Amino acid sequence: MSAEPDRRGFEPPPYPYERLDSFKPLAASFEGGLIDLSIGTPCDPPPASVVAALAASNSERGYPPSVGNEPLRRAFSSWMRRRFAVDVAPSAVAACIGTKEFVGTLPQWMKLRSPWLDTVLYPAIAYPTYEMGATLAGCRAVAVPMNERGGIDLDAISESDAARALLLWVNSPSNPTGALDDLGAAAAWGRAHGVPVFSDECYAEFTWSSPSQSILQHGSDGVIAVHSLSKRSNLAGLRVGAYAGDTALVHYLGEVRKHVGMMVPGPAQAAAVAALDDDQHVVEQRQRYAHRLRRMADILRSWSGVDVPIPDGGFYLWFPVDDAWEFTERLAREGGALVSPGDLYGAAGSGFVRVAVVQTDESIERVASRLGVS
Ligand SMILES: Cc1ncc(COP(=O)(O)O)c(C=O)c1O
Repeated sequence: MSAEPDRRGFEPPPYPYERLDSFKPLAASFEGGLIDLSIGTPCDPPPASVVAALAASNSERGYPPSVGNEPLRRAFSSWMRRRFAVDVAPSAVAACIGTKEFVGTLPQWMKLRSPWLDTVLYPAIAYPTYEMGATLAGCRAVAVPMNERGGIDLDAISESDAARALLLWVNSPSNPTGALDDLGAAAAWGRAHGVPVFSDECYAEFTWSSPSQSILQHGSDGVIAVHSLSKRSNLAGLRVGAYAGDTALVHYLGEVRKHVGMMVPGPAQAAAVAALDDDQHVVEQRQRYAHRLRRMADILRSWSGVDVPIPDGGFYLWFPVDDAWEFTERLAREGGALVSPGDLYGAAGSGFVRVAVVQTDESIERVASRLGVS
């Protein structure tokens, strides 16, 4: 008798943060309710000029260009010159509808371009969408171990995985660890192995131990920097990001994404130009996060006795605990605050906790007083 063919299709796994839902009722009894320090969603206001530009662009009627209109591509290019001292032509910049969709769909497009390859390399402790994008494209997702500095361990990539690789992801500052990676080494590895390197730089404005960096400071051949306004300008709801660098890759991705109808709405493009042209609000936002990281680290240290280091970049505290799920539950029960156990960012992250300082100073003080910390 022949065996029944396996007809099971893809079953989406639970969304990572939905695994925290059972902790939410624990915080409900506190006056002021749950203080959510799990998802990295900004709480501070974007500049008023951005909101005004949304209403005044007069761009609602027509279809917007998929790669972004000229003012948007020029604004990204000029921000990259100011921030990283790199020259990227506006034609080597293209828009995405926030970077999550870019990360989640990229392996499909790269696989269509090189059907004989099947592997996506990504950091073992990382934003979960790198792995999910590979899964959605039917590709192999290969987690690359981290080195002792918290960067991706390029020496740990086997020759056979490198030979099958469609792309390598790097992320600096890292979500969740805050570590800054050696982007020059990643670019050099990619060129030596003929593997395109995609550098997710959405936290680039928030570095605490050294200046902001981009992989494009090491040339643009074979590399793409991916940027977002979600964190820089408190605009996660606007959905605007961009990818920039290697002209052939930017052109290919722009063409294929145009066929799919990936378009940032015109009013959002206009608002993004206003945000990119303004650096002052970023200075203020940096001060807020720097203060909240220090304050929240002090609160958690006083309450738990655990050592909570200040990261080199990003707005997450990342620290080891005995049992991350037990720590998360205790903090929800005693402080009414929700944080993320580290295995949400890969098995290699288990034993750590991530705390996003994305609530107002008042909310953070409320956590302190619930925990009895002054
Ligand atoms: C490392 C990293 N990349 C990309 C994103 C996606 O951001 P967005 O889609 O809002 O641009 C996030 C959001 O948390 C992130 O942490």
